[in-house]
Order: sequence, then structure tokens, then C-alpha cells
Amino acid sequence: MCGIVGYIGPKDAYPILIKGLHRLEYRGYDSAGVSLINQSGSLVVYKAKGKVAALEAAAEEKDISGTIGIAHTRWATHGEPNTTNAHPHYSQSHSLSLVHNGIIENYKTLRTELEKNGMTFQSETDTEVLVQLIEYLQTTHHCDLITAVHLALKNVIGAYAIAILDKRNPNQLIAARKGSPLVIGVGKGNETAAPGEAEFFLGSDATPIIEYTNQVIYLQDEEIALLNRNGKQLITNLESVQQTPQLVTLQMNLDELEKGGYAHFMLKEIFEQPNAIRNCLRGRIDRDTLSIKLKGVDESKDRLLTARRIIICACGTSWHAALIGKYFIEEAAKIPVDVEYASEFRYRNPVIDKDDVVIAISQSGETADTLAAIQLAQSHGCFVYGICNVVGSSIARATDSGTFIHVGPEIGVASTKAFTGQLVSLIMFGLALAKEKKTLSETLYHEIINDLTLIPEKMQQTLDNSKGIEQFAKIFTYCKNCIYLGRGYNYPVALEGALKLKEISYIHAEGYPAAEMKHGPIALVDEEMPVVVIAPRRGMYEKIVSNIQEIKSRNGRILSIVTEGDTQVKNMSDFCIEVPDTRDSFAPLLSVIPLQLLSYHIAVAKGRNVDQPRNLAKSVTVE
Ligand code: M6R
Repeated sequence: MCGIVGYIGPKDAYPILIKGLHRLEYRGYDSAGVSLINQSGSLVVYKAKGKVAALEAAAEEKDISGTIGIAHTRWATHGEPNTTNAHPHYSQSHSLSLVHNGIIENYKTLRTELEKNGMTFQSETDTEVLVQLIEYLQTTHHCDLITAVHLALKNVIGAYAIAILDKRNPNQLIAARKGSPLVIGVGKGNETAAPGEAEFFLGSDATPIIEYTNQVIYLQDEEIALLNRNGKQLITNLESVQQTPQLVTLQMNLDELEKGGYAHFMLKEIFEQPNAIRNCLRGRIDRDTLSIKLKGVDESKDRLLTARRIIICACGTSWHAALIGKYFIEEAAKIPVDVEYASEFRYRNPVIDKDDVVIAISQSGETADTLAAIQLAQSHGCFVYGICNVVGSSIARATDSGTFIHVGPEIGVASTKAFTGQLVSLIMFGLALAKEKKTLSETLYHEIINDLTLIPEKMQQTLDNSKGIEQFAKIFTYCKNCIYLGRGYNYPVALEGALKLKEISYIHAEGYPAAEMKHGPIALVDEEMPVVVIAPRRGMYEKIVSNIQEIKSRNGRILSIVTEGDTQVKNMSDFCIEVPDTRDSFAPLLSVIPLQLLSYHIAVAKGRNVDQPRNLAKSVTVE
């Protein structure tokens, strides 16, 4: 949540910062702001409520010169989304400006203390406390800025990624992090660079940086970076001990960050799924021997094979993937699997044994609750296996081993290709364990892997079959509520379908295991209530047919997802979408696609902002 961009070097900072903010807008879009030390040496701040475009309009007639700057796009936590609460925030003397991502938990205490000492505040944010505290400490301790930053951060409880400008020193940019991500790009400069002049970028992730350099440093927790125009880059910890940063080469492609002709990132990401899954499988499935090779599992075999049970922690869509993972891992590898909301797990004193293995699933790798669940598990001596998309993310670095899903950057707030990538990674994980534990016969093991290799092609067919969805999505536009039903492997798909509809169209929707309907929710069914039923031929087909019958007899309108060639459910449905046949455990990989498209088209028809739905942000880095 919240995106930070920074630049120091020979180039004009403003265009780099604005472009970077657009890339990070998925992290929050309540307000945006930029601060520059301009050519005349003034420290300027321009901000606007709303999106980056509003900031650009606000800065139109302003002096946007300068080769050093910081910028921010906000997802509001403390203080309503208005211009005053937008970042960057000035210090009292206007010598410093600061942007922040995270939450300062003890901000009230700090603010009261500072106010007692004569500091005045402009905003309601926790962030302003940071910049005022730094200035106050610098003045009272008569020290340089970097020392004041160390002192201030030692007094702070909470999470932060920050970047600071100092009007008195236009040659340095200061950044620090704890609990919120921050990446430093080490640039190449340009022909206007003076001899020895360096170039550094800052970003909450690498997307604002990749255009200029693929050399990055992932700042670690409690590290403070001093980035100097003369090339000096000093990274220290809170105790002022110098750290040795690791320079990493990014494996990211600029095209992946563009819409590539699609109207929205979400649509592009839905259509990318066949290729995304090919990439996820690449190098992990040997098609000749029909076997799985997962580096993360190979490296940690000892811990994984002695696991008493597996606990999967995740949030949102990743939690839905975890539920399907549970079904598969238990079925294939015969290990008990519990699935936990990371936000509940971290606070409810769970019984954790050191022989348990925890799997943390996160697309962004930055979800605060999932990160805290990992820390809790590790404090009990558990081995933690990560399933992440973003390489270099906090969760990827915090886990003991893991698998990257490799589906490419997911920018639409609604998770789509990451979900199917997570499922495939969990399936490969379950199969790798099953092989070691010999819980599957050789024949079945090979058969399952063979079926897995066919999934990308079947995803493509599913997309091709789904052309009609746009038409009947229009009919759904007028509904106020919607129920999604599935059984077995498709019950979590019902949950996921309902979440997709809620988050981008703002239509209330609930997912249920179909058989649970008669324990209460069936009372909701009438001719106004669309019921989406995921009913592929395999699994509990006959059972779900009876559930559909029960809804039909109460005048419910049925939209069904069925296996190609099905007539029974099709004939009972008002609308029907066919997906190719596959094994029961793989059905979610296909059945979720029409549901993603259904939500997408409903949201578009309702004129919603599909990629940036209200109140949401892509990475939830606050609890
Ligand atoms: O990055 P993560 O996978 O940890 O994110 C978890 C959830 O915040 C995320 O899946 C959220 O529910 C999506 N917006 C759903 O589409």
C-alpha cells in the first residue's frame, strides 16, 4: 500500500517520478504528490487528491525543474484522502520533505511530545510525525541529517519505507525501510552526467526502475541508505554499522508492465494465463520422463518429508488457492494440511509444532499479515516455504525455501493469473512430495503430470469458449446480490468467483459449498437472485445436479460452468459456459477463468474502474 519513487542523478527528476508513480498507482490511488529541489534550490512540494493524473494537472504551471526528487501515491490509513494529508510532508522549517509507506504505530505519543516542544502539524497523518521528529532531533542534537534519521527511527514503532529530501543538501537522497519494501536502482546516468556523477532510483518495487537500469539493491529491514550524487552509496543499520549491499540483476521485461493493446490490465492478465502457466511449468516438468523437479522442494527435502502437518497461511485470493492446495496435497501426498487466514493465525495463539511446515502464499510477497504469520511460525522453529510471484519481495526473502510462480507482473488489483499460478505451484509441490513419500503409484503420478502439461492449451480453449460472456454479463449488471456454488475442488472457486465480483463490480456476492445451501442461504433464493454454479462433469456431479434442482424449484436463475458436451446441467441453466474436460483436481484451473471474465465484463458494463477498484490496493502492506 502506497508507492514511493525517488531519483537523484543527471536527468530531470519530474518525468521519472511521474512515470514511476503511474507504475505504482496499483498500490494506492487516494492522492499523489511529488517533491523536488528545483534549479533555484527551492524545496517544492506539489500534491493532489486522487490519481497521479490529478497531480500532473496540479503541477502543470509549476516549476518542475530539478534533478533530485521524491514522489508518493497514497492508500490512506491515517487521515482522510485529501491534499493536506497527501505526501510528501514538509518539516516545520520546510527544509525537509518526506514520503512514507507503512504505519507509525506510536505516532500519537511522538506527536504529543513534539507539540509540547513547539512543533506544529499540518496534517492528520502518522507520516508527518516522522519528518518533524527528524528535524527536531537534528536541531536539538546539532547533528547531520543522517544521524538524525538514525535517532528518529530508533524511536519509531511500526513499519516504514521512507525517502527524504534536504533542501540544504541537493546532492543526497536518504531512504530507509522496516517492514515495507524499498528497492534502490543503481543507474548508468547519461551524456549530461558530470564525470563521477552517479544516478540512483528508488521504488516500492522495481517497476519504476526497470526502464532505466536492471541493477538493484533490495534494502533490508532497519537499513538506512545515503545515496550521493558523487556515487557514494552508504548503507547502514540502525546502529550505524555499515552494511554490504548485494547488487541484484532484475529479470523483468518492460513489455510486461504495459497493457499491450488490452483495455485493462485485468483483461490482459486473464488472457495471459495459458502462457503464464507455461512459464510456471517451464524447467519444472520434464516432459520426457513426466516428472517434477522443484528446486525449493529438493533443497528442503529433510524438513518437508518429516513434517507432521502443513499449515498454509495466506490472504484473499491466495487463501482461496491455499484451500485448493489443501485438497490436492492431502489427496496426493497424504499429509494433513490446515489453511489459515494469516491475519487470524498471527494473533490467535495457534498450536504450532516445530515439526510443522508452514507454506506462505502471496502474489506480491509484501502482505503484512502473511509476513507476520511467517515470523510467528519461524519463532516456533517451523520451516517456512514461500509461494510468491514477486522476486526479491519481503516474503520471498523471509521464507526458508520456496517456489516462484513466474507468471509475470500482475498489475490489476484483482488477482487472476497469480491465482492459477499459485494453484499450479501447489500442485507441483504436492506431486514432488508425493513422489518422495511414494503415496502415488508411478502410473498415476505420470498420468497427473501428463494432464498438467495439457492445462495451458485447455486454458486457451476456455478463453476461446468464453466469448459470449460479455453479452450475458450485461444482464447481471442489474443484480444486487449473487451466489456462487461449488463442491469439492470447486468450492474454493466459488469463493474466488464471488470475491472477484465483489471487488471490481461492487455487487454483493457470496460463495458457498453447494450442499450448505439448505442449511440457511437457500432462503435468499428467488427470481432476482442469480446463482452461479460450478458443475464440471467429474467430482460430485450428481450431487451438484440435485443442488441445482433445489435452486430451480425456488425460481433461482442459474449460470453454470460445465464440462464440454454436458447436456444435463446445461438444460437446467439459464446461461451456460463450457470448459474442457480435465481431472477433478485441475478443474479450478479452468473453471475460474469464465468467472474472472464474468466479473470483468460486469464491472466494465457498470463503468467501474476495473484495475483500480475503490478502497483497494494491490499490496496490503498494513495490517
Ligand atoms: O499479494 P497477496 O497474494 O499476499 O495478496 C493477498 C490479497 O490481498 C489479494 O489476493 C486480494 O484479495 C486480491 N485483490 C484479490 O483479487
